[in-house]
Amino acid sequence: MADLEGNVNAKQYHTDIPQEHGGFHIKGSGNLDYGMKHRLSRIFGDDGHTVMLAFDHGYFQGPTSGLERVDLNINPLAPYADALMATRGIIRSVVPPSNDNALVLRASGGPSILKELSDERLAMDIEDAVRIDAAAVAVQVFVGGEHETQSIANMTKLVDDGLRYGIPVLGVTAVGKDLVRDARYLGLATRIIAELGAQLVKTYYCDEGFSDVCAGTPVPVIMAGGKKLPVKDALTMAYKAMAEGASGVDMGRNIFQREAPHAMIQAVGSIVHAGSSIEDAETMYRDLSKGASD
Ligand code: R5P
Repeated sequence: MADLEGNVNAKQYHTDIPQEHGGFHIKGSGNLDYGMKHRLSRIFGDDGHTVMLAFDHGYFQGPTSGLERVDLNINPLAPYADALMATRGIIRSVVPPSNDNALVLRASGGPSILKELSDERLAMDIEDAVRIDAAAVAVQVFVGGEHETQSIANMTKLVDDGLRYGIPVLGVTAVGKDLVRDARYLGLATRIIAELGAQLVKTYYCDEGFSDVCAGTPVPVIMAGGKKLPVKDALTMAYKAMAEGASGVDMGRNIFQREAPHAMIQAVGSIVHAGSSIEDAETMYRDLSKGASD
C-alpha cells in the first residue's frame, strides 16, 4: 500500500541508465532457461529488437478489414516480419509451415466484441503451443477491467505452463473503454504483468512518460500498434517508442489496412532494426508504395 499512503508522483526511473541484460542480448532474460532463450532469440534479432506482425484480431472481432483473407493479405508480408502473432486456427489453416518466422500464439479468448471483453479464459492448452512450435504464447491482461482477477489468473496459469515447457509468455495490456492510456496506467499494468512472471509485455505508446513505462518494466516492452493512423504518425509512434526504450513493435492495422502494407512493414522495420529516422522511413514508404494514397 506504499504508494497509496505516500507521494505517488515522486518516482525515479533512471531512464538514462540502461538495465543490465545479464550476458544475454534480450532485456531481463539473462537468467532464463536455454529453451526460453532459444525461443526469444527467434522473436528478437541480434540487436534485441523485433518487428512482430499482429493479425490475431479475428479471435474476438471476426474478419476485421484487411484480414478477410489472411492467405492473400498477410502471407506475402511474412518475410518482412521477425514474428507473426496469430491464433492457432489461422496458423494451422493458412500460415505456411515453411515460413521461418517466430510464431507468437494467441492463447486467450472467449468473449466476442458483442460481450464484455475482459471475461476471457485461456483458450488453448500449452501442449498445443509445443505442437505448433510457438516461440511464445500471448494473453490479454485486463488490469482495472471488470474481470481483472480472472485475466491475471489466466496469465499466471499460462506462465506456469510456459515455464514447464520453456515457452515465454507475452502479456498484453488490454485497455478497457473507460481506462486512460497514460503512463501511470500503462506503467501499472506492464509492471504487474512482468512481476507476475510474463517474459514479454505488449503495451500502447503514450506521448508522456513512455520511457518511464519501459524503464519500470524489467522485461522487453513491445509497442502495440492500435488503430490505423496516417503513415507519418504511425512511423513517428514507432520511432519514439524505440527511442524511449521499447524492444520492438507489434503492429497490425497500421500495416495490413494500408494500400501498400509491404511498404509500411519495411519502413517500420527500418526504424526498429536500422535506426532510420522518421523522414527516411517515410521516404522508404513513399518509394516502395509507388504513390499509395495512405
Ligand atoms: C491486442 O489486443 C490484440 O492482440 C490485437 O488483436 C492485435 O494485436 C492488435 O493489433 P493492432 O492494434 O496493431 O491492430
